[in-house]
Amino acid sequence: MTTTKPSTTNPITNTDRVLIFDTTLRDGEQSPGASMNLAEKLEVARTLETLGVDIIEAGFPVASPGDFEAVKAIAEQSTRSIICGLARALKGDIDRAAEAVKPAGKRARIHVFLATSAIHRQFKLNKVKEEIVKQARESVAYAKTLIDDIEFSPEDASRTEPDFLAEVVQAVIEAGARTVNIPDTVGYAYPNDYADLITYLRANVKDIDKAVISVHCHNDLGLAVANSLAAVRAGARQVECTINGIGERAGNCSLEEVVMAMRVRKDMFGGITTGIASAHLYGASRLVQSITGLMVQRNKAIVGDNAFAHESGIHQHGMMKNPECYEIMTPKSVGVPETNLVLGKHSGRAALGKHLETLGLGVSESDMGKLFDAFKVLADRKKEVYDGDLIALVEEVVRGRTVDSWVLDYLHTASSSGEGAGSGALATATVRLKKGEQRIIDAATGDGPVDAAVQAINRICGFTGSVEDFRLRAVTKGGDAQGEVSIRVRVKPVGEDGPGIVVGGKGLSTDIVHASALAYLDAINRVAFQTGRLDYRNATV
Ligand code: KIV
Ligand code: ZN
Repeated sequence: MTTTKPSTTNPITNTDRVLIFDTTLRDGEQSPGASMNLAEKLEVARTLETLGVDIIEAGFPVASPGDFEAVKAIAEQSTRSIICGLARALKGDIDRAAEAVKPAGKRARIHVFLATSAIHRQFKLNKVKEEIVKQARESVAYAKTLIDDIEFSPEDASRTEPDFLAEVVQAVIEAGARTVNIPDTVGYAYPNDYADLITYLRANVKDIDKAVISVHCHNDLGLAVANSLAAVRAGARQVECTINGIGERAGNCSLEEVVMAMRVRKDMFGGITTGIASAHLYGASRLVQSITGLMVQRNKAIVGDNAFAHESGIHQHGMMKNPECYEIMTPKSVGVPETNLVLGKHSGRAALGKHLETLGLGVSESDMGKLFDAFKVLADRKKEVYDGDLIALVEEVVRGRTVDSWVLDYLHTASSSGEGAGSGALATATVRLKKGEQRIIDAATGDGPVDAAVQAINRICGFTGSVEDFRLRAVTKGGDAQGEVSIRVRVKPVGEDGPGIVVGGKGLSTDIVHASALAYLDAINRVAFQTGRLDYRNATV
């Protein structure tokens, strides 16, 4: 099928909006070690709605009962975004997805996918072209009987023969797909070629104007954002992306980068915009970092710690004369926290709530009480409370909600100092953990106070672990700044074989050793929750 049809509209001068389809909760969650619990997924979904995301891909309902429940709960909670569930082109998958997204009512979408490239047809599906077209058409037609808003993805589209791709796309549009997504599944595409592919489909699919063209780019060659932008210039009107670009392997197109590239370089897009409230980008990025434990590199565009830091004297001088000498967007425009004092210990709950709203942080009513208590404690301890402190506090409260988690009740460490100390000198730690009424105390030695605290926690919880990555950052400036420790650890229950599970953890305190112990315990709680191994040693003190 290749009916050549001249493209009637100029893709760039067409002033439509580009829809932002966020898949942090589906493709993003497929990043190794990024799994989120239900409460965390709900928090991310709330934040995505505040950010102005048009479509939230909430999960893959058939994948597990947990995925199903999460998609359903997000659909129930949602108020404005379209809620989408992924399904293979199979009846059982589609039924499950339909049931999960149904609570979103008119805002429910099913995303059906089926691979189309020669390599996938031969080695993965063992199907010929005709069978693929038939399955794609029938699965979309079936999904359409359950939910009106259907999206179809020919997986590995960028490596599919263009004429066959056009045939599949025409078939699914005829069957009722309203969105046709053209995934660069393995991150192989190159901006010019990918844009040409979109142009080709616009010219060669008879009914292409009946559907929105979407793009979904992976970042294996670091080209996901460039490819997505090239596709928008060629006429795509939906971009699939994730917060911080997390996702399978090297990740997906980064939401914050694609949104700001379109905003800052409007001239390249003929006035086409997205509906994203960019001042909430930083808050969303921080939340996803904190929940997944996947920390963005300092020099990451838009949301990295160094994105707006000017080190050289020449730059600083230029910045003082006119920020536009070296800044193409302001930190404020993407929500990087101001260093002004924002709230103090006399601020009330309403003021705190209002301020969180301006930061784009969607704290549920039930978390607000806990957050306000934590804020009061911090405001008492610190002279000044900044936006960065508030963002970190929200993350702390959200993360602390894992069911059945152990809490650090007491920590005392001692390390040798003076003559003979240094490498080889032992430190000791005494740790008491509590969960409900249960309290367990133990002590251990280690290479330093952090290692000693980790060993004591291991003894109590029955895990062994090694720290694979450790990062410390000051949340704000000043001697009394809170230190935020983010770690990735590989842990496994004592006596169990195998490589263990890699998991992230985070801790926040004005004391670094305390923050480290909190981060390690956070990781242990997550692994215990994921593996269902909550049967800690039963020694109560
Ligand atoms: O990368 C991909 O092809 C996907 C599809 C399911 C859209 O994630
Ligand atoms: Zn993908």
